[in-house]
Amino acid sequence: MMNVPPTSPVAPWLGGKRNLAKRICAIIDATPCTTYAEPFVGMGGIFLRRAVRPRAEVINDAGRDVANLFRILQRHYPQFLEVLRFQLTTRAEFYRLIDTNPDTLTDLERAARFLYLQRTAFGGKVSGRNFGVSKDRPARFNLTTLEPMLEDLHSRLAGVVIECLDFGAFITRYDGAGTLFYLDPPYWGCEDDYGKQLFQRTDFRRLADQLATIDGKFILSLNDTPEVRHIFGGFNLTEVRTRYTISSNAKDGARERGELLISNWAVDCQDEVARPES
Ligand SMILES: C[S@@+](CC[C@H](N)C(=O)[O-])C[C@H]1O[C@@H](n2cnc3c(N)ncnc32)[C@H](O)[C@@H]1O
Repeated sequence: MMNVPPTSPVAPWLGGKRNLAKRICAIIDATPCTTYAEPFVGMGGIFLRRAVRPRAEVINDAGRDVANLFRILQRHYPQFLEVLRFQLTTRAEFYRLIDTNPDTLTDLERAARFLYLQRTAFGGKVSGRNFGVSKDRPARFNLTTLEPMLEDLHSRLAGVVIECLDFGAFITRYDGAGTLFYLDPPYWGCEDDYGKQLFQRTDFRRLADQLATIDGKFILSLNDTPEVRHIFGGFNLTEVRTRYTISSNAKDGARERGELLISNWAVDCQDEVARPES
């Protein structure tokens, strides 16, 4: 295992694991492996915050925008910066991009559109995005502050394999005695949050059945519901409590919620209540 500088995601993402990251990364960093693999990487809230890495790292997301952004940052970084230099944070530009079908764009344009929308939308929402503005904050798309973050991510992605597969095919391809999977699927009850066809409720059972057959280790995080406890009841379940906010509107407040860490070995996890970062 080699030390690696923890980095931050370059855009918010619904279900990003900011509050739980410290506890989950501590478990992952203390678990030696030869391959680290994330089937539901999103913006990389866990992947990027780890402090040690094995030789092989593989990330995956069935969302095409996510996989494309990581690939562009890894392989076409200078060209990507050129495209971004001409982006403005305006409401008109936001809604023009919302109305653009990403399938009509080049991969570079697609990555720029996605990054722009994710950084300017409220609460890291993925569908039904609204333009997020705030009286007391600078424009959300400012390349001067963004460029160092993109540079760090470009360096961090060197040598990382990036896949865009359904989780089932990904797990089959990368399982092995030395593999450690961290899995962060959509929450129970929020299956459609990342697009209608990506994840179905029946996929929780499919995931549990597949995880029961793997040779590697896994740790999975999900919201604590009776159904989740039932479907994953054959594994180790560790309760953790955390606080969530979806919007910056104080009225919506931060709610405390139970979360489960599900694993095929006994994990050691400090159950302190994480305070939301400002
Ligand atoms: C809870 S989010 C992951 C958040 C991530 N941990 C982060 O910090 O940003 C779940 C992710 O699973 C992806 N996803 C949904 N269905 C999938 C599937 N069938 N196979 C692979 N990825 C899928 C979504 O695109 C989404 O990015």
